Amino acid sequence: MNLDIVIMAAGKGTRMKSKLPKVLHKLAGRALLGHVLHTAAQLKPRSVILITGHGAPEVIAFSADSVPANSPFSLKTVLQEPQLGTGHAVQQAVPELGDEGISLILSGDVPLTQMDTLQALVTQCAGQQIALLTIEPADPTGYGRIVREGDAVKAIVEHKDASEAQKQIREIYSGIMALPTHLLKRYLSLLDNNNAQKEFYLTDVIKHAVADGTAVAALKITDAAQVAGVNSPAQLQELEREYQKRAAYKLMEQGVRIADAARFDLRGDLACGQDVSIDVGCVFEGRVWLGDEVQIGAHCVLANCTIARGVVIHPFTHIDGGKEGATVGAGALIGPFARLRPGAQLGEEVHIGNFVEVKNSTLAKGAKANHLAYLGDATVGERVNYGAGSITANYDGANKHRTVIEADVHVGSNCVLVAPVTLGAGGTIGGGSTITKDTPAGALSVARGKQVSIADWKRPTKKK
Ligand code: UD1
Ligand code: MG
Repeated sequence: MNLDIVIMAAGKGTRMKSKLPKVLHKLAGRALLGHVLHTAAQLKPRSVILITGHGAPEVIAFSADSVPANSPFSLKTVLQEPQLGTGHAVQQAVPELGDEGISLILSGDVPLTQMDTLQALVTQCAGQQIALLTIEPADPTGYGRIVREGDAVKAIVEHKDASEAQKQIREIYSGIMALPTHLLKRYLSLLDNNNAQKEFYLTDVIKHAVADGTAVAALKITDAAQVAGVNSPAQLQELEREYQKRAAYKLMEQGVRIADAARFDLRGDLACGQDVSIDVGCVFEGRVWLGDEVQIGAHCVLANCTIARGVVIHPFTHIDGGKEGATVGAGALIGPFARLRPGAQLGEEVHIGNFVEVKNSTLAKGAKANHLAYLGDATVGERVNYGAGSITANYDGANKHRTVIEADVHVGSNCVLVAPVTLGAGGTIGGGSTITKDTPAGALSVARGKQVSIADWKRPTKKK
């Protein structure tokens, strides 16, 4: 059956105390709404209808960016202005909803609902009845209570409208329901705002359904994180930690050793080989791949990179491959305090030490830059040794140029290699040289003032 997903995202999010619309705040590096859209897409809907209000331009721009034009479902946005409650919100979607099919109602601020849970809810609806996702939280205060007679669901009563007896009910409505669209439309048209909040409640759909003889089923789950909404920075942080704990345990189940699940952060996708270990305080962003036996030291940030078998990354290393990516070859040693930028392609057994920056450069097997150096737009041959304090001057103020350092070259300390320039294989560059011309293979090249000593040099003295 055709599935149309309605995502409510018009609310203000007052308690976030932020200029950014609530649904654009990030959890695990992705906007709350991004999580919901991602899960929605997995359900293969016919359409997704996003209800916007507060911050509509930003929310619409974000959703257009995250749902590609060639996506198999259509994304429609509608404006709810003013916001008169959840029922009023869904009423705005009615013109966009085809009569046949099932509507699934979600909220843009509930990021961690799992696809299979929603699939089960849609299956329970079966195009015939209303299926509510419910839960029994430790504290039901503030939520809509599921009122039953025997087993049958009779109504959802909002906390502010509930009698003392109804407030004792533990089962609450999660905010998520699936129902046949033609029934949704019929009951939405019957809503009024005669209640404590003077709002049009989506939850009043239930009493109209019951009066109409439509069956209402409840799918009760126990995993609170799946239906937890974000209303405040504290709740966002709590859900973030829950997400990260789950991500860490999932990796540990695959054999990854994580020193502390509470000090692990994944903001993207991390794939690991066998016997990978990750020390405390590391952050992984974008797409990161760690090969067998990779060791990541404490407090490293790794983004968009591929790290081959047996690499050791020492503490406080920052790798960000950006759009081009960065690769580190098998057995390489990186850090501590190393920085690899987009286009860094390091071969096997390369050593990159402290305070060394590598950008858009290829280093062949066994090349070493162990201290305080910059390699930008360089092609570095096998076994090259690149001295402390040396840099490639790759930028002339307008254009970038390449430096080629052939195999077995030794670059002394504090050299400036002014690109474009090629250092011939096996050559040696004397420390402190500013190299502006190509150097021949095998030779010692020195480009600096000659050392002189003045024997009878008198130091200046202060006049009295
Ligand atoms: C709602 C339910 C309540 C349930 C709870 C679960 C109603 C009347 N009550 O309560 O039974 O236990 O969720 O969290 O539905 N929104 C709009 N436009 C509006 C109002 C809200 O788009 O005019 C959006 C909000 O941005 C939010 C979602 O709808 O994403 C839910 O709104 P919220 O105010 O949080 O619902 P509650 O009153 O908490
Ligand atoms: Mg409300």
